[in-house]
Amino acid sequence: MKILMPLIAIFLFAISGCYYDSKEYLYPQLTSCDTTNITYKVCIVNILDMSCVGCHSGSASSGGGIKLDSYTEVKKRVDDGKLMGSIKWTTGFKKMPKNDSKIESSSIVILEKWISAGAPNN
Ligand code: HEC
Repeated sequence: MKILMPLIAIFLFAISGCYYDSKEYLYPQLTSCDTTNITYKVCIVNILDMSCVGCHSGSASSGGGIKLDSYTEVKKRVDDGKLMGSIKWTTGFKKMPKNDSKIESSSIVILEKWISAGAPNN
């Protein structure tokens, strides 16, 4: 039995290694986001750039008039509740990203933490 323990440890290490590898591959920018010190410029901009800004920028005509490419515009959608409503698919809001699956739950947590800290422009 004792001899099995290191093998199990190596096995678990190998699986978790793979898991992180694939996450970094899929979400390369998020790895630079320090989740204990969430900032608009690193964390929030990265999440919105990856999933939202393609449709919601000043140059895109496809975002229904909503822009998410500057702090001022994002803050408006924080204050009217539409940002979290649309990301969490709350009843009464349009489900975002449009025609796609929900964004990563870890990204939703990051957005929630930032908003509960007062959505600072940091
Ligand atoms: C493929 C283009 C596309 C993507 C990607 C997209 N949106 Fe939208 N979004 C739209 C369009 C178009 C509308 C206008 C309403 C509609 O047609 O559904 C909209 C509306 C909204 C609204 C207003 C919702 C309401 O209930 O009034 C918010 C807020 C929003 N989007 C946020 C986001 C966020 C946050 C993301 C990223 C997680 C995102 N969108 C990704 C196209 C997109």
